[in-house]
Amino acid sequence: MTGNNLGVFIVFEGGEGSGKSTQAALLATAVTAAGRTPLSTREPGGSPRAEDIRKLILGAESADLDPRTEAMLFAAARADHAHHTIRPALERGEVVISDRYIDSSVAYQGIARGLGVEQIRGMSEWATQALVPNLTVVLDVDPEVGLARANDPNRLEAEPLRFHRAVRQAFLDFAQNDPARYLVVSAERPPEEIHKELWTRIAPLVTP
Ligand SMILES: Nc1ncnc2c1ncn2[C@@H]1O[C@H](COP(=O)(O)OP(=O)(O)O)[C@@H](O)[C@H]1O
Ligand SMILES: [Mg+2]
Repeated sequence: MTGNNLGVFIVFEGGEGSGKSTQAALLATAVTAAGRTPLSTREPGGSPRAEDIRKLILGAESADLDPRTEAMLFAAARADHAHHTIRPALERGEVVISDRYIDSSVAYQGIARGLGVEQIRGMSEWATQALVPNLTVVLDVDPEVGLARANDPNRLEAEPLRFHRAVRQAFLDFAQNDPARYLVVSAERPPEEIHKELWTRIAPLVTP
């Protein structure tokens, strides 16, 4: 990938409660143990301005947010995150671990909300100057199982089950279309077991 220098950019995607935050934390520990510096970050957010935009997008007061406004706010937050957090860390040679990235926008806004895959992906690619992860890990879970686990209530969790099923299928389709850049793991197993599987794939990327 262009522009990463020696840094490695890893993204976790998956529905609500799929274990993204849990696996991101386990991965950061393993990266440190392997002698590399992890930079743990998340979307929406990951930089001070993007965290402000996150509050705007996910807050209850934004329940009437128009879907196009919402999509552009996600892209604006991502532009700031890529510019101020991700690229500088990659240039320092760090291992960036992001809880969600562009695929979340394409799955939720582009597909589940029906705003268009090309439009939403194109906007985020423009926003990030096409900063692409080295690997995206899709934590695949039945939405009913994930929603029962989720402990971070937000507006998206209130969407009907068919919305979450469309999101799940979208992530699986992205992975199927680009297997070299994706790893799909079943997330309905103990966290340590999931971590071991993904570390098998990630270790060669982060160990010199
Ligand atoms: N593999 C797993 N099996 C069962 N519970 C899990 C697993 N991974 C995470 N959890 C629990 O499920 C909840 C949601 O996990 P979290 O990592 O916050 O998911 P996400 O960040 O994808 O929303 C947390 O309470 C977490 O401890
Ligand atoms: Mg989380």
